[in-house]
Parts: sequence; structure tokens; C-alpha cells
Amino acid sequence: TKKAVLGPLVGAVDQGTSSTRFLVFNSKTAELLSHHQVEIKQEFPKEGWVEQDPKEILLSVYECIEKTCEKLGQLNIDISNIKAIGVSNQRETTVVWDKLTGEPLYNAVVWLDLRTQSTVESLSKSIPVNNNFVKTKTGLPLSTYFSAVKLRWLLDNVRKVQKAVEEDRALFGTIDSWLIWSLTGGAHGGVHCTDVTNASRTMLFNIHSLEWDKELCEFFAVPMKILPNIRSSSEIYGLMKAGTLEGVPISGCLGDQSAALVGQLCFQDGQAKNTYGTGCFLLCNTGHKCVFSEHGLLTTVAYKLGRDKPVYYALEGSVAIAGAVVRWLRDNLGIIKTSEEIEKLAKEVGTSYGCYFVPAFSGLYAPYWEPSARGIICGLTQFTNKCHIAFAALEAVCFQTREILDAMNRDCGIPLSHLQVDGGMTNNKILMQLQADILYIPVVKPSMPETTALGAAMAAGAAEGVGVWSLEPEDLSAVTMERFEPQINAKESEIRYSTWKKAVMKSMDWATK
Ligand code: G3P
Repeated sequence: TKKAVLGPLVGAVDQGTSSTRFLVFNSKTAELLSHHQVEIKQEFPKEGWVEQDPKEILLSVYECIEKTCEKLGQLNIDISNIKAIGVSNQRETTVVWDKLTGEPLYNAVVWLDLRTQSTVESLSKSIPVNNNFVKTKTGLPLSTYFSAVKLRWLLDNVRKVQKAVEEDRALFGTIDSWLIWSLTGGAHGGVHCTDVTNASRTMLFNIHSLEWDKELCEFFAVPMKILPNIRSSSEIYGLMKAGTLEGVPISGCLGDQSAALVGQLCFQDGQAKNTYGTGCFLLCNTGHKCVFSEHGLLTTVAYKLGRDKPVYYALEGSVAIAGAVVRWLRDNLGIIKTSEEIEKLAKEVGTSYGCYFVPAFSGLYAPYWEPSARGIICGLTQFTNKCHIAFAALEAVCFQTREILDAMNRDCGIPLSHLQVDGGMTNNKILMQLQADILYIPVVKPSMPETTALGAAMAAGAAEGVGVWSLEPEDLSAVTMERFEPQINAKESEIRYSTWKKAVMKSMDWATK
């Protein structure tokens, strides 16, 4: 049979905390043609520790690429039309590997990991109160969340890492760097780079000069020689060195939350999106200005789509646990068999019946930044059953979003009139309706929810030397949307929200007792 002719295609790797995906889009219509997904293991070797195997992550990328190409073949789509590949990734997660063997020297220390809590406490004491240079240079609060302290831990505790640094064999990277280095040849010529969005999550990067910062590297005692080269989010970094797509340029790279901002077409100052993945991240484009939050949000690099293109910044509200609470109900409590089942359970009752669930498994991120908070489920009676707990878990995701939206509105001065959403959990209609009820503004979801991958594909396709995707506004196809309007009254919404806040205080009290 004749192969379908579609014009240039662009692939995107979406390497999240819970799963890896490879997706292929038609660059002319932004239509998703095929994809493949593989779940990624998380290891919890000690209380508060979260690790992943960098090799498993890399193999999952190859597996997804190969399976997607097979599926395209079955659709009679010629894979030689794939002209570029973009990478979007879970951010902050830290890998150190040996550049001669290509072997990771320890597991990846995942962004959710809390092992560096005491390091953070002692480093905090050495920052002058009247000169918080870490915050001013990076836009970030000193926290277990970011890569610098994870890297510090590896340098202090892993003999193999220390030895490799002494012998000039160690390379550091977030997941984007690890993947791009490996995919472009690894020990045989791999390109060691990262983009400005991922770099802005390390705490070693100056978001004003867009360079690694000597003073920060000294503060965290990180040798600069192991850091990747900093590039824009859209340029050719190197070519695929193996597999069916060998020779295809990798030309887009964005941290997953930045990729979703691009994929949701939030290119204007004041446009925002909220992505429901393992965690939940609300980013608002602030244009060329670095806006510093007074309400617990981060200042981060949104994107820089080309070497000579200007940098855009964002304010970010980060929630550590969103989809992860569903996975916890599945894997740790076993009350659901698949993540999708939570919707059925929640629908059966339609209320948490006074049960509140604060999933502070990794402490609380924005707006509290309290690493010692711990998860609680409260308001239980003999009437409470697993359906109420399932409902409370979904409500928790919505309440946490409400907290970061409130902070965003206070920082920006102009309240958001609606919330643009994306990510796996947005397929859950109960969650979306609850979100609209709790925010008391409409929630708007694009009909194609894979906006993270789309953003990475756009960056890759638009890169100089590829040029198959235009980012000019008139060329951005109109996206169809699904809307969820608030259905409960504002008073009821406020009562629920204030009870949630009481539960949050309890989860933080827990820490101090
Ligand atoms: O900062 C962490 C974030 O990038 C993780 O994203 O999609 O795995 O929740 P996700």
C-alpha cells in the first residue's frame, strides 16, 4: 500500500516523573499522529528519598521511539518525514555519570526527594538576611526541590562520584542533559548541554545573565567543570546516533512546565497555564521582566526560542503532589487498580463527606515552602469509605491549585479570568468540575491535552536549520477548547476552602511536634 504523504513531522520526547512518552505531530496542523507511553519506576529507599534509574529512563525513551515508529508504519506514515525531535523533561532531577563509560554513578535523585533537608537548613543560615543573593540571582527559595543541593549530596556521599570528579570523568545534568548526551552518542561524542529553562531549576544559574554563576557554584561547592553547556530552547544540539531515527536532529529542549506553556500558546504577558502531572505547576508568562513574588511563587525562565531570540520569564506556583496522590492510592493503599478508577469512586459519592486529605508527602511547596510538613487525612468517621478518600484526594489537587492561583493573582494584581489546564489528570471530568467550583472561575482545556509534548515539538520544528514549524501568531492553528463552569455557589466554595486551610495547618503542625 502507498504511504500517506503528510509533509514534515516532528517528534517529541516527554520524559515525566511517572512516565516517558514519544509523540509525533504533523508540523502543519499540530495534529498528534501517534504516540507510545511507558511507566517509570520510582524507588523510595528511605523515608523521604525518591530515586529513579537513569538507564531505565534512557531505555524507556528508545522503547517509546521505536514503538511509535512501528505504529506510524502501521498507519502507512513514512517515518523519514520526521525532521526533528524535541525533548521535554521532569525538571531538577539530578544525574551524575561517567563520560568515559556512559554509566550513571548513582541513581537519579528525583525533584521530590527530601534527603537534603538538613543541608538546606544549614546553608540557609549562611545567607545574609539583608542580601539573599541566592533568591535574587536564581528566583528560587533555598529548598530541597532544586538540583544544587542534590548534587551537593552526591558529591559529599557517593565515593564513585567523588573519584570521577577528581579524575575529570564526571558529568552532571538534569534529565534533558542526560538524555541529549546519551542520544547524541554518549561516550562516543555525546553533546553535553542543557537549555535555559532546565538550567534555571538548578539553583546554580543566574537568570539575569543566563550563565552558570560562579558565586552560586562556590556557595554550593559545585565544580563548574562538570556542568553542561547552556543553550537556548530551540536550536540544533546534535543528531540521534542510534535507532530508527538515527540522523534526525534534536533541536528543541524545554523543562516540561515551560514546554506546556509554549504548547498552550501562552506567549503573551499575563497568559497562564496549569499542568496536572505528578505534581501541579501553574506558570504565568511575565514577558521579558523577572517578576519577584511576594507570595511564595518562583521566578523562572519560561523559554528562549532560538539563540538570537529574547528570553521570556514566568512566575510559577509549584505543587509537589497531584497525580502522585492517585498513584499512592493505587500502589500504597490499593484502593484502585488503575489511576482512571479514581473517577468512578469519586463519582459514586460526589462528596468527601467532611474528609480532607493533605498529601504533603514531600513537605509542602508553594506557597508554604515547608519541607517538614507531612501528609494527613482528617475528618474521618465510621461513615467514611474509600470513595470519600478518593474524592478528598481529587479535592486536594484542586485546593492546592486554588492556593497558588490566589498567590498568582496577588502577585500579578490582575486576577486570571479563567484557567487554562492540561496534563494527564485533565481527562478526569470530576476533577475538572471540582476545579472550576473551587476556583470559582471557568477551567478551559484544549481538546488535544498533550501540550507539553506539543511545546517541545514546536521548539524543535522552529529551530534554525530545521524550519518546519512557524511560531508566528497567524500560523498558530485555532485550538478547540472544553470549558468547565463553576456550578456551586461562591459561599459554599469558600467554606470548603477555609476548612482545607485548617487541614493544611495541621499538616504543618505535625512537623513541629
Ligand atoms: O518540577 C518538576 C516537574 O517538572 C515534574 O513534572 O510532569 O513529572 O509532574 P511532572
